[in-house]
Amino acid sequence: MSSNDSTGEVSVLLDISDQEFLDLSRLVYDQFGINLTDKKKALVRGRLNKVLKNRGLSSFEQYLNLIKQDQTGMVLIELIDRISTNHTFFFREADHFAFLKDEALMQLNLPAGSGTEIRIWCAGCATGEEAYTLAMLTRDWAAKTGFRGPIKILATDISVTALETAIQGEYNDERVRLVPLALKEKYFRSLGPDRWAVVPELKEMIFFKRLNFMDSTFPFKNQFHVIFCRNVMIYFDRETKNQLVQRLTKFLMPGHYFFIGHSETLGRETFELDYIKPSVYRRRLP
Ligand SMILES: C[S@@+](CC[C@H](N)C(=O)[O-])C[C@H]1O[C@@H](n2cnc3c(N)ncnc32)[C@H](O)[C@@H]1O
Repeated sequence: MSSNDSTGEVSVLLDISDQEFLDLSRLVYDQFGINLTDKKKALVRGRLNKVLKNRGLSSFEQYLNLIKQDQTGMVLIELIDRISTNHTFFFREADHFAFLKDEALMQLNLPAGSGTEIRIWCAGCATGEEAYTLAMLTRDWAAKTGFRGPIKILATDISVTALETAIQGEYNDERVRLVPLALKEKYFRSLGPDRWAVVPELKEMIFFKRLNFMDSTFPFKNQFHVIFCRNVMIYFDRETKNQLVQRLTKFLMPGHYFFIGHSETLGRETFELDYIKPSVYRRRLP
């Protein structure tokens, strides 16, 4: 098979043997929980070919050896950056945001007092659109309801390049297509044709951080009032998904809401969550 590189030259794609793909999939599963089935072989081969060539490698076997020998962790970071699918956009699965505004935020069990804050975890934020959608929505909600405390959004992802885009906060028309006009006027600045920047007020609400869901511990002490973990677990097998949901649930305050992607479901193994409606769950009260 051949492909066109950026110079327009036709280059030959390096092949990946069944054994090399198996070794790579095991590594990706162990390190990141992502289940690369045989159907993904061509995709993985295509996505990694450029990495191998840039590194001057002539086979996937050499690449696997390099990953094993690398002490810096940079080769693995590059691998997950190439393998992970970061597709997302503003107001994706918009009914979740309507539910958040009309139900979840209205039901928040906040102690009285000026120090009260709302904490939201956008888990698997990719390039940031979901976190910024949450920021503009909660900011508007606070203005309407008179909530005065800080609203803090933690947005995490494994992909360094996705997080760099998120921190930059600049997007093209396609990504912002579903943002309602009133919110677009309020929260974006035009940078010219097909380019929009989110305003600093939104950026200030979000802390972007690299986090691997497979890490043995998560470095936060407080629980969250809302957790979004959407379209992440579609890449995980059932066991990994159940373990992750149980871990995330521990970080959700009882009585509060957990959102997954529309195409996802949770099994009965996730004992502490009650089903509210498709892709929306609430942590049971003790
Ligand atoms: C398709 S995006 C979902 C973006 C957004 N939540 C949405 O629904 O539009 C999936 C994200 O999960 C991240 N991801 C995959 N495995 C991960 C892991 N082990 N730890 C943390 N993030 C991971 C990927 O890097 C990717 O950005």
